[in-house]
Amino acid sequence: MSDKRKKVTIPELYGMVDRGERISFLTAYDYPMARLEDRAGVDMILVGDSGAMCMLGHPTTLQATMDFMVEITAAVSRAAERSFVVGDMPYMSYQPSDEIAVRNAGRFIAEGGADAVKLEGGARMAPRVEAIVDAGIPVMGHIGLTPQAASMIGGLKSQGRDAETALGLMEDTEFLEDAGVFSILLEAVPARVAEEIVKRAEVPVLSIGSGPGCHGQLLIVHDILGLFEAFTPKFVKKYADVAQTMTTAFENYVRDVRSGDFPAAEHTYRIPDEEWNRLQEVLKEAE
Ligand code: KIV
Repeated sequence: MSDKRKKVTIPELYGMVDRGERISFLTAYDYPMARLEDRAGVDMILVGDSGAMCMLGHPTTLQATMDFMVEITAAVSRAAERSFVVGDMPYMSYQPSDEIAVRNAGRFIAEGGADAVKLEGGARMAPRVEAIVDAGIPVMGHIGLTPQAASMIGGLKSQGRDAETALGLMEDTEFLEDAGVFSILLEAVPARVAEEIVKRAEVPVLSIGSGPGCHGQLLIVHDILGLFEAFTPKFVKKYADVAQTMTTAFENYVRDVRSGDFPAAEHTYRIPDEEWNRLQEVLKEAE
């Protein structure tokens, strides 16, 4: 097992794959959540553009902006002593041109303190990947269900479920590898297709909803904690019902405020009697 407090690096991720250790990967969008994940031994943290939905209440990830992503990435990076931090490039921060892609990837590293960036797309995005890698920035590819292209791929649906599209994913993997990605994330791909991709891949392949055959697993933290209530994808395993715990706490607070049970003496500052008496005298004189 690797040293819990030593920062995870790309060579260490490759070492884990060689040793047959599975990589744990979770999203985080703020400092306290990232601190807890880091402390728990999560190997990689994705500062996902899903933050636009989980944190800001937007209907899709398309509303995430560079400024928002860079700011939350910086918060996560400040907390991640050990976890490897991946900043997720938001919609239109890399699609328009290589130059825009390099500039924005650079912001994730310089301002956000990320260890790498992730971008969505296969063969068509290979030139962007190459340009960013040429600038010295590690890139994770993301294929399969790519939410930024939801309208192109028929919605938030599993991908690669027929032979042609499965082959397409294998070709995308090769293009991305040739462009220099250090890893690939497969989203919502059938487990058997993912296994074929893993067999042929030269880089670590991470799964979100793509079965147990990948080198590591990613989930969205708000899904596993039961904090995102709009919908739950099939591949999510819920590890806690934090929404219920928090709602109960809020209800208890409202009840205590209404009843006057909060604040109690232990939550209240005291003025020493002597000072209190002095204040009373001054007030009396001023009357
Ligand atoms: O933004 C995100 O959390 C993601 C995952 C859904 C892969 O990109």
